[in-house]
Amino acid sequence: MPLDVEARPATEGVDVSRHRESVEIATGVHWIGALDPTLRTFDIILRTANGTTYNAYAIRGSQGVAIVDTVKIEFSSEFFARLETVARYDEIRAIVLNHLEPDHTGALPELMRRAPQARLYVSTRATSMLKALLKPKEEERRFVYTTVGTGDEISLGERTLRFLHTPFLHWPDTQCTYLVEQQVLFSGDVFGCHYCDSRLFNDRVGEFRFSFDYYYAHIMRPFKQHVMDALKLIEPLSIKMVAPAHGPILRDRPRRYITHYRELSTSSLAGAICNKEKTLIIFYMSSYGNTARMAEAVCAGAEERGGVRVSLYDLEGGEIEPFVDLIEEADALAFGSPTINGDAVKPVWDLLSSLAVVNLKGKIGAAFGSYGWSGEAVRMIEDRMRGLKMRIPISGLRVKLIPTDEELEACRDFGCRLSDALSGGKNEPAVIDFADLA
Ligand code: FEO
Repeated sequence: MPLDVEARPATEGVDVSRHRESVEIATGVHWIGALDPTLRTFDIILRTANGTTYNAYAIRGSQGVAIVDTVKIEFSSEFFARLETVARYDEIRAIVLNHLEPDHTGALPELMRRAPQARLYVSTRATSMLKALLKPKEEERRFVYTTVGTGDEISLGERTLRFLHTPFLHWPDTQCTYLVEQQVLFSGDVFGCHYCDSRLFNDRVGEFRFSFDYYYAHIMRPFKQHVMDALKLIEPLSIKMVAPAHGPILRDRPRRYITHYRELSTSSLAGAICNKEKTLIIFYMSSYGNTARMAEAVCAGAEERGGVRVSLYDLEGGEIEPFVDLIEEADALAFGSPTINGDAVKPVWDLLSSLAVVNLKGKIGAAFGSYGWSGEAVRMIEDRMRGLKMRIPISGLRVKLIPTDEELEACRDFGCRLSDALSGGKNEPAVIDFADLA
């Protein structure tokens, strides 16, 4: 028989931003986190229009108290003030760390000093990070930890915590923790968002849909396959509440957010292109039309082989964001850029620098371009693609100024060879670089 999760406790109406009080989110389960309403940038790259929260939880059982996650170090005093309203330090048996990033482990060393008897529970992948995090020798001598995986449990008496191994959401160490009897999922960063509202619960806070999707797009999107793997563990669970590490606690129809994660992790283009067909997208910029002519020839060559859907885009007429979606779906990318002042042109870099949010590992990359003097752009683009873990099976193609018919034929051949690489056909390693012949 599940324990009651529907507690509407006395703290329901408390403004936690003023009172530093804990909030009972379910019977025997308290939010003891911290609010950071003035934060405007998280981890350097994420915008946080109304701040964030660092959610931590205390779960009381007849055999002790478990703490799930802590807070960023600057917010330690809030965390400890709230914790002290619901438990004594000598009652703490377990400290569960769903994720070791400092925004959730900043208060951990001090918590370990105050509750030295508590055992840490981390995922199997967290061990090296844990040791790096707790470098001070003093703590290392004291702490004891247990690594846990999917299905492992700890009992607090009438309450049981069960672990789910959900790596790479978004660090290798990440896990979720499920409170079995009350069907509460402590999900770490998963299902979280940077949205600060002292009303805490999704049915009481302001509109946070944008923050939820923005967070997914920047934190989880590069790990879509890992999200799908995690959903295989999460979706079969009966869930009355999702308690993430950031943002609102999802007690009103929590299943919607789980379903939304599946939708966000499933390509909207899936099925739009025949499954057997590979996709190549060619992007280019051209100042005098020379790189454009190269791009058209590469496109024509790639199409000759058949079995590859080829798209050609002039970056001068495009917006970055839709291209990022296309790129995520593509099997191969080719970038054409002239060299201006020893560099590829800005729209190419803008697009390439936007790709950190998608997983490009193993996609085929290629570069080409016309140039006047030095011609560095092609090599620089290739280096960037290698940095993004793409494969570059065919050396880049450069043409000095206006491509001749022979050079355009080489561009067609370049396209053919890209198609061959996509379809697993043979590729000769050598490519004529007309720059070397100049
Ligand atoms: Fe909220 Fe990945 O730390």
